[in-house]
Amino acid sequence: MDLSAFPRVALGSWPTPLDDAPRLATALGSPPVLIKRDDVNGLGAGGNKLRKLEFLLGQAIEQGADTIITFGALQTNHGRQTAAACAKLGLRCELVLTAKVPMKGDAYERSGNVVLDHMFGANVHVCADAEETVRAYEKVNHDKAVTLPVGGSNGLGTLGYVAAAVELVGQLSERGIDNATIVVPQGSGATAAGIALGTELLGWPGTVHAASVSHSAEEAGQELHQLAGDAAALLGAGKPELGHVTVTDDTVGPGYGVPTEEMWKVLKLFAETEGVILDPVYTGKAAVKFRALAPASDVPVVFLHTGGLPGFYGYAPEAVAQF
Ligand SMILES: Cc1ncc(COP(=O)(O)O)c(C=O)c1O
Repeated sequence: MDLSAFPRVALGSWPTPLDDAPRLATALGSPPVLIKRDDVNGLGAGGNKLRKLEFLLGQAIEQGADTIITFGALQTNHGRQTAAACAKLGLRCELVLTAKVPMKGDAYERSGNVVLDHMFGANVHVCADAEETVRAYEKVNHDKAVTLPVGGSNGLGTLGYVAAAVELVGQLSERGIDNATIVVPQGSGATAAGIALGTELLGWPGTVHAASVSHSAEEAGQELHQLAGDAAALLGAGKPELGHVTVTDDTVGPGYGVPTEEMWKVLKLFAETEGVILDPVYTGKAAVKFRALAPASDVPVVFLHTGGLPGFYGYAPEAVAQF
């Protein structure tokens, strides 16, 4: 697969670390555990969107864009990383955000990612519903604006995680690990889709487990297949089979962005065994799945840490009450 044919801007620090997590493995009674640290990749407090944005903004700049518009929930990590990338590249950033999570209060509404969006110089438009979101979008859209989808998830964004799969499989193989299970959170889908497609194109024998944090397993699975197919088409490859991929939704709880008791427990587990901080919306819920899967695995288990630390502070009052 040739990713060099696509325009790309340099945003993150690569490769990200692949850390051994022996105390977590002992606590779980599992085979070796590794954490792929896509939460520590540099720009704008880091996270998984930087890999997608390298391709998405590479194309936008080639198209002559001076403005980037994108969408998300109020505490979107994608919006914050897009704002940071636009700051670095000298692009105007319009964030059209919808209040879709039933969380209230200053921490959720003004702190966490939101305050960083403002610091990075983005124009933040907070909308109450879908209708207001459309109106806000139409107002800021213009000829030299490029619109990125929610979560940066389209075929092109997925290529960022195809590249990540190549990087991760290389790191595993350097350690003599040629088979593993990779657990990854799934929201808008391109992260899991890219890992799934990349590992299949490499002919890697391991498995990929996508833990949905928002949609039903059926919807999330369809999205993953669609995005992997779109990315494969961009690479000139055939439709992927993805027989090595499983998608689940049993750790979502009452809904996207709504904390669960098990999520808080697993945040504490990662923190007190490895000093690693997960977030309540994405990595925390995926790690609940990881905690269930790891002890039953007969190969090493990799947790893909996709970031989200600023979002943790959006839940500060709830975290304070827990710990
Ligand atoms: C911290 C974090 N982890 C995981 C995800 C999910 O990634 P994707 O949207 O590619 O499925 C997101 C995206 O919103 C995120 O911000």
